Amino acid sequence: MSSQQRSQGNQQWGGRYSAGPSAIMEEINASIGFDRKMWRQDIRGSLAHAAMLRHVGIISAEDEASIKEGLAAIGEEIEAGQFTFSTALEDIHMNIEARLTERIGEAGKRLHTARSRNDQVALDVRLWVRDAIDGLDAQIADVMRALVERADEHAATVMPGFTHLQPAQPTTLGHHLLAYVEMLGRDRSRLGDCRARMNESPLGAAALCGTGFPVDRHMTAAALGFDGPTRNSLDSVASRDFALEFLAAAAICATHLSRFAEEIVIWTNPYFGFVRLSDAYTTGSSIMPQKRNPDAAELVRAKIGRISGHLIGLMTVMKGLPLTYGKDMQEDKEGIFDAAETLALCLAATAGMVRDMKPDVARLREAAGAGFSTATDLADWLVRELRLPFRDAHHVTGHLVAKAEAKGVDLSGLTLEEMQAEEPRIHNGVFQVLSVEASVASRTSYGGTAPVNVRRMAGEWRERLA
Ligand code: ARG
Repeated sequence: MSSQQRSQGNQQWGGRYSAGPSAIMEEINASIGFDRKMWRQDIRGSLAHAAMLRHVGIISAEDEASIKEGLAAIGEEIEAGQFTFSTALEDIHMNIEARLTERIGEAGKRLHTARSRNDQVALDVRLWVRDAIDGLDAQIADVMRALVERADEHAATVMPGFTHLQPAQPTTLGHHLLAYVEMLGRDRSRLGDCRARMNESPLGAAALCGTGFPVDRHMTAAALGFDGPTRNSLDSVASRDFALEFLAAAAICATHLSRFAEEIVIWTNPYFGFVRLSDAYTTGSSIMPQKRNPDAAELVRAKIGRISGHLIGLMTVMKGLPLTYGKDMQEDKEGIFDAAETLALCLAATAGMVRDMKPDVARLREAAGAGFSTATDLADWLVRELRLPFRDAHHVTGHLVAKAEAKGVDLSGLTLEEMQAEEPRIHNGVFQVLSVEASVASRTSYGGTAPVNVRRMAGEWRERLA
């Protein structure tokens, strides 16, 4: 901005202002550095607004036509990197409007009739979040598809199931992966709920009280793909709970990805050796030639920090804010943008790792049998075969585990005599339930770990995701 322009004050509200802002005012006030990301949404909103203004007779058909042309040309300028964004013009709304007037003159100045930046920004942010949800939904579905394929492939691959990260019962890799499919399915549904609830158009609320112009808010709402207009003008410009909901859903999804990433970190550790990631998702060390570090997984594990941080950040901005609009709300954008972009990156990295990982089936089998993992199967057998009350069966099994541990073998390494010394009625049939394969195959309860279940569930998910 030239010094002459500055001395004339801001060209958008220069009527009342005689002096320009101090440099620091300009710096703290400007959002163009980040809200330029919403240029597509801003143009979309303006096109719908202009069409409505013409429809109700507020502007002429010629004005609408030149606004349309001008906005299209501005879109091309921005896309081509030829648009000059100005900090003095504060934000994306005024940057585009000023350029429009520069290009088409008088008609450009009519566009802001019956509209305020308050409803304009509320609209743009909603449109941006809605677009982000649609993109993330497709990406989550892609991760789910990748998990379902690997789950089907490894429906019968036994591995240790953990509680407290201690060996608990044998499960299958397929069952384990499908657990994440369930979580991600709920993440999609949460984002979908958020999308459905926020799908109302604030455009036409104007500054805060609506407008005396005969606007048709239903028309702009429909044109922009909303279910209808918001019902209260004050709420329309003052509320950002749709953004909070989005951030909460994004943070929960990122939490799920973080847990999976941590498992990848554990599984690829040579002490575990459950899966291997290729060079595509690992890095070496500049000093230790043997290293294969799971950096992508570590970063997905970590990035939840930013996303949940943005949720807390915006909740803190919004708390205690009196109705209606306050400039505070300009602080919503960077967190929303970063959360959406970070989650998108984490989803892409997760999909990549799921497709890339190479499970070591023999190692998983070996680990599945360690740690007396079929002790529950033994106790269940005592209940079923010998009619022992479960608590007594648990006790007898505990003694047998201690015996095996002292002998340095697993449960199937005990002799029948050694078992009968604890419970004389135990017979040879017991050895059939002590293998990990028998253990997982027996767990056919709905939602249980048995390979037949896993295959069926994988099939159901594949259909649902098709
Ligand atoms: N850049 C502003 C924001 O992000 C746009 C709305 C400004 N409204 C106003 N009355 N100053 O919130």
